[in-house]
Amino acid sequence: MRIRNRVWKAALFGAVAAVLAAQAQRGGGGDAQKIAEGRKTFRFDTFGDEAFWGDTLKLHQAIAGSKLGGVGAGVSPKTALAVGLKVDAEALPRTLVQQIQSGGVNLDDPATTLALLKMNAVVGVTGVFDGDQLKSVGIQCALCHSTVDQSFTAPGIPAGNVGRRLDGWANRDLNVGAIIALAPDLSVVANLLGTDQATVRQVLNSWGPGKFDAELFLDGKAFRPDGKSAATLIPPAFGLAGVNLHTWTGWGSIPYWNAFVANLEMHGKGRFFDPRLNDAVQFPIAAKNHFGNVNPDLSPDDDRITPKLAALHEYQLSLAAPKAGRQAENLAVQRGDQLFSGRARCNNCHTEPLWTEPGWNMHKGAEVCIDEFQASRAPDKAYRTAPLGGLFTHQKGGFYHDGRFATLLDVVNHYDDCMRLGLSAGEKSDLIAYLLTL
Ligand code: HEC
Ligand code: HEC
Repeated sequence: MRIRNRVWKAALFGAVAAVLAAQAQRGGGGDAQKIAEGRKTFRFDTFGDEAFWGDTLKLHQAIAGSKLGGVGAGVSPKTALAVGLKVDAEALPRTLVQQIQSGGVNLDDPATTLALLKMNAVVGVTGVFDGDQLKSVGIQCALCHSTVDQSFTAPGIPAGNVGRRLDGWANRDLNVGAIIALAPDLSVVANLLGTDQATVRQVLNSWGPGKFDAELFLDGKAFRPDGKSAATLIPPAFGLAGVNLHTWTGWGSIPYWNAFVANLEMHGKGRFFDPRLNDAVQFPIAAKNHFGNVNPDLSPDDDRITPKLAALHEYQLSLAAPKAGRQAENLAVQRGDQLFSGRARCNNCHTEPLWTEPGWNMHKGAEVCIDEFQASRAPDKAYRTAPLGGLFTHQKGGFYHDGRFATLLDVVNHYDDCMRLGLSAGEKSDLIAYLLTL
């Protein structure tokens, strides 16, 4: 009896394990079809924002250049890669790959850029074509939150420019400001900010690579009190499952921020509600322009954002932080691990394995010894404990919301001063070795 029972139990556990394994293979145990749908949205959906980037700002004209029906010199592939745009190698036909690798493709000709757009090969950018004529252009989440791996090189194309997509990785090469500044008509942005186009271009060009200013269009603050740009780094969009509040300053949940960005930053067509933006003192521009209640009367049939939010959320939750490689046997890493949750007290806030606090993961600037400027631009007026998974993928551009610490050693030195940790040089280097494995 006992034996039979055991056999039966083993068979049952075996069956359950097989089902779980199959689910895990489909992608983190979630709904595989929804995750695939969300991935498509993340990579390819403009939410109708070409009405803004193309039709209004006329960015497509600057890309095409005057010879191809646009304005100015046009954007060659060389220029596109120089401002950090990435090319999806898997979207390129084999013959073209061979041509690029033999140096047979003109990387100085905007016509090549248009051809790449037509193949849907420029990560995060979609061209709208009428025949060969570029009629408009839209952007996607992947523009800022994907990059490509090092798998492809060719004459004139260093590794890391063309390759396989890495979704969720922050594109710290991307100079968003320089790209927007190319747009021939920035009058809408200038009017919104109550300034002229030359000033708008100056602000955009002050951001630099890997940065964007999501709050500029709410409060009009382009520069910090010390005169430096108010833009913040693009954070990774992986490793966020289980994390309560998102963005550097904890604006809300993942689906909150997705709706915010798709409506207010990308200018897709949808519905958005947040009465916190009606505060005319903190958010004068948002309050004046009713950003707290976008398209209240939009017909559900015309809403190109809201129906995408559920699957997009599932996809983001499925993106685990990448691992730099197994280094658990490394002694420095082991010592760093001990310090992290021991004498250095990092784990008090960056709680393993979320690497942020379960619960209300917010702190005043003073608690981590920094100024309150960026915190004061968000509803909670605080900083969110940044999740640390996959840190090795976004060392370019520095650390903390504005990249004020160029290296992890600068970060650790900062905590050493701030929290009076008294770490030795060896302990600091152990802690860094550990941080790079998270
Ligand atoms: C133009 C670049 C850009 C685009 C396009 C963009 N983002 Fe972001 N994203 C940012 C920046 C910059 C932040 C940080 C904002 C802040 O803290 O003020 C951010 C923050 C986030 C976060 C918070 C991450 C965290 O650490 O909690 C998520 C999630 C996110 N974006 C998802 C998306 C999705 C989904 C889309 C498409 C609907 C999108 N983003 C489009 C630049 C961009
Ligand atoms: C009091 C809570 C708290 C403690 C303790 C703490 N941190 Fe942080 N940490 C934060 C907050 C908040 C941020 C985000 C700061 C910002 O947005 O500018 C952050 C950011 C970071 C970042 C930058 C992440 C990025 O994406 O740029 C690193 C790295 C980091 N912490 C490492 C550590 C280490 C190592 C320790 C221990 C020596 C530690 N932290 C202790 C709250 C804390």
